[in-house]
Amino acid sequence: MNVLGISAAGAPNNRSELLFNSFLDEFSESSGDVKKIFVRDLKISFCDGCRDCEKTGKCKFTDDMQVLEKAISSSVIVAVSAPIYFTSVPAKLKAVVDRCQLYWVRKNILGTFSSSPQKGFFISVAGRNSDFSHAETIIKAFFSVFNIKFCGKFYLPNTDKLNDEQFAKALKDVKKLSHGVAEVTEETIKKSFNSL
Ligand SMILES: Cc1cc2nc3c(=O)[nH]c(=O)nc-3n(C[C@H](O)[C@H](O)[C@H](O)COP(=O)(O)O)c2cc1C
Repeated sequence: MNVLGISAAGAPNNRSELLFNSFLDEFSESSGDVKKIFVRDLKISFCDGCRDCEKTGKCKFTDDMQVLEKAISSSVIVAVSAPIYFTSVPAKLKAVVDRCQLYWVRKNILGTFSSSPQKGFFISVAGRNSDFSHAETIIKAFFSVFNIKFCGKFYLPNTDKLNDEQFAKALKDVKKLSHGVAEVTEETIKKSFNSL
């Protein structure tokens, strides 16, 4: 089972990435082939809305989006992790999502993109008692382009005030998210996409 983790944390020891690692450890320990992509390391150009992709089915930018596309399409499970920045996802992750317009066009306009159903998870942290819904909406839109069903989430608010003991508990609790993998069958994913 190929598992892909995409982390939008600013640095390896940031809380969202520690939670991400804890979640993905569940798969490394149970025979999963886990690949991690760090958004901070990607070379990504911003979509400038040229709409060339609507005519050509291709993007004019050659960068790490092609690497990401390959990794997503060869995975059964995709987990995204990101801190909340100004009520949303960090800008570089949003740049990645915007570049998915190419796949949206291939899927919805050109009819040339198909991808088998996958299972997606979202992990997020916020300094205060923040609203995670804006970030969740963006991640759901990102997932839907690739036919990734949103199967579970783990949100940790108030990290500004969290002590070590509370964070250690969160590192354990995030592992429970992996139970969602077994609970969602291929059949339920297909049904949910048929009703979109
Ligand atoms: C640029 C920036 C914007 C932020 N915006 C918010 C916000 O809108 N709401 C909130 O609750 N916390 C906000 N925070 C706090 C972070 O979400 C919080 O520190 C989080 O733990 C960072 O995650 P990380 O340790 O994985 O980097 C912001 C932090 C930064 C650096």
